[in-house]
Amino acid sequence: MAAAVATTASGPADYGIDAPRIVRSMFSRGAWTLAFTLVFYIVNRSEYPGPAARICGVLALIGLFFVAIGAVMVWSSRVAKLRLRDQMLDSLALRGDERVLDVGCGRGLLAIGAAKRLKNGKVIGIDVWNPFDLSGNSPDAAKANVKIEGVADKVRIENGDAQKLVYPDNHYDVVVSSLALHNIPEPDARARAVREMVRVLKPGGKLAIFDLFRTGEYADVLRASGAKDVELSKTSFLWCVPGRSLTARK
Ligand SMILES: C[S@@+](CC[C@H](N)C(=O)[O-])C[C@H]1O[C@@H](n2cnc3c(N)ncnc32)[C@H](O)[C@@H]1O
Repeated sequence: MAAAVATTASGPADYGIDAPRIVRSMFSRGAWTLAFTLVFYIVNRSEYPGPAARICGVLALIGLFFVAIGAVMVWSSRVAKLRLRDQMLDSLALRGDERVLDVGCGRGLLAIGAAKRLKNGKVIGIDVWNPFDLSGNSPDAAKANVKIEGVADKVRIENGDAQKLVYPDNHYDVVVSSLALHNIPEPDARARAVREMVRVLKPGGKLAIFDLFRTGEYADVLRASGAKDVELSKTSFLWCVPGRSLTARK
């Protein structure tokens, strides 16, 4: 499970691009559409100048639309997600001695952010390292970031599935998760993961989740599991889809 940090780490930490396959597909659709538009215009401009210009205008807008979605997704991963992490961690008002679990930690964004706010607390980051959910996703990438950010004494990166946490009941002071649970396709499995997060929290412990699409569903599961003060933020449209933060206490 736990593994020593054995990677060579240099340069600034890189927390990856979320849903890299979709981002690539948006840029490539945009590029192909714009290239086709150009060829279409060159071929038709002398014989049908008016219609060619109108059709090319529409095609160019479609191409630019795809490129814009790709650009918003990259900005969301590279810029907005870092702000979101700070807001989530601010909302937890950590004392500094907590034991924190980051579920679906990816390359360690939340785990490392939490560790930087701890004095003698510890963070465990767990993940199944799906490469389609995050670019360069691997335990080694997370461990390299942990080293670069100077928190290797406070963070442990482990393999682990959100649906079956291996930790005992009432073990963590804080459980956090960002952009992870919606990647679990079945509703029952997502509910199981949310219940697992509540199970491992100590009574009075705090939970903070940011995710896309399914946050209302998580709030219902939390309430049904006896969590208190379940609060959902306003909807944002980072990554061009609806997302909300969710906080609760056990
Ligand atoms: C979009 S990435 C976000 C990573 C990180 N939380 C962040 O905000 O940068 C989603 C992560 O959830 C992980 N994940 C997906 N299903 C999971 C599961 N059942 N258990 C644990 N992690 C999971 C993926 O491997 C991926 O690292």
